Amino acid sequence: MVMSIQAKKLNYTYQIGTPLEHVALKDVSINIKDGSYTAIVGHTGSGKSTLLQHLNGLLKPTSGEISINGYTIDNTTKNKELGKLRKEVGFVFQFPEAQLFEETVLKDIAFAPKNFGKSEDEAEKIAREKAKLVALPEEVLEKSPFELSGGQMRRVAIAGILAMEPKVLVLDEPTAGLDPEGRHQMMEMFNRLHKDENLTIILVTHQMNDVAEYADHVIVLESGKVIADSTPKELFSDPEWLKNHHLNLPQTTDFAYKLFDKLALSKHSIPLQSEELTDEILKILGGNLNE
Ligand SMILES: Nc1ncnc2c1ncn2[C@@H]1O[C@H](COP(=O)(O)OP(=O)(O)OP(=O)(O)O)[C@@H](O)[C@H]1O
Ligand SMILES: [Mg+2]
Repeated sequence: MVMSIQAKKLNYTYQIGTPLEHVALKDVSINIKDGSYTAIVGHTGSGKSTLLQHLNGLLKPTSGEISINGYTIDNTTKNKELGKLRKEVGFVFQFPEAQLFEETVLKDIAFAPKNFGKSEDEAEKIAREKAKLVALPEEVLEKSPFELSGGQMRRVAIAGILAMEPKVLVLDEPTAGLDPEGRHQMMEMFNRLHKDENLTIILVTHQMNDVAEYADHVIVLESGKVIADSTPKELFSDPEWLKNHHLNLPQTTDFAYKLFDKLALSKHSIPLQSEELTDEILKILGGNLNE
């Protein structure tokens, strides 16, 4: 079985034949490797969420096709063929906590495994494991999810998705509405899931800092088209191109460019993460000290 995601000439048009007809994806061809941490970026309305919704068949291509872990979806695919795929691709929408409904946190997380045929005990065991994975403290498990803070409610919702044991985690702006500390913790949590649980991560974000910090693959959409498909390093090495497409640099890279400019240094190795930047600065200082 091919464990990757491949879109071939994927087109999607909303509300065909109505005055609201809108071509949201145009000939999108991408390849997302198993085990990658892929960021999808682009302006509002560029088609990011539309693309994501093809990853578990919520939307089906108007033309072209997409294969996910060996399942191929085109405009003839029936929903009943997608049951297994939907277990493999865990979907975290914006504000997933809106879907919580059970009496207790534990029951909420255990809902999916129970629904998929696990016994009460087994489902509860899985729920406890997943609660741990998302760093929910033991004492909240018997509480109502509605007594928790926004960040904790979101963790409950994410644990509920992990309880289906997906192989791919799809995140559509998962930190929207959280404060900076909550955002940081949530991003660190996804990174842990990626590293320790071998989850393939597909993240839609407007935060270039997060792309620089976590992703190993980045896809840029503009008006429904893929205009870049590379690594963060490559993408952020071309500030001119980014400017032309009204995209920001990560803070670290932006600072590095300004510093290198002032010092009239070449920009061949541009740092993305704060540690890399620190090393570059130390190199510059060291070079000067040795002179
Ligand atoms: N139901 C719909 N009917 C018609 N057009 C739609 C519909 N849903 C989305 N669109 C249009 O399709 C385009 C892509 O929308 P999409 O939600 O995928 O963008 P996005 O990149 O996720 O944007 P954002 O960053 O704001 O979330 C937009 O121009 C949007 O207005
Ligand atoms: Mg969106």
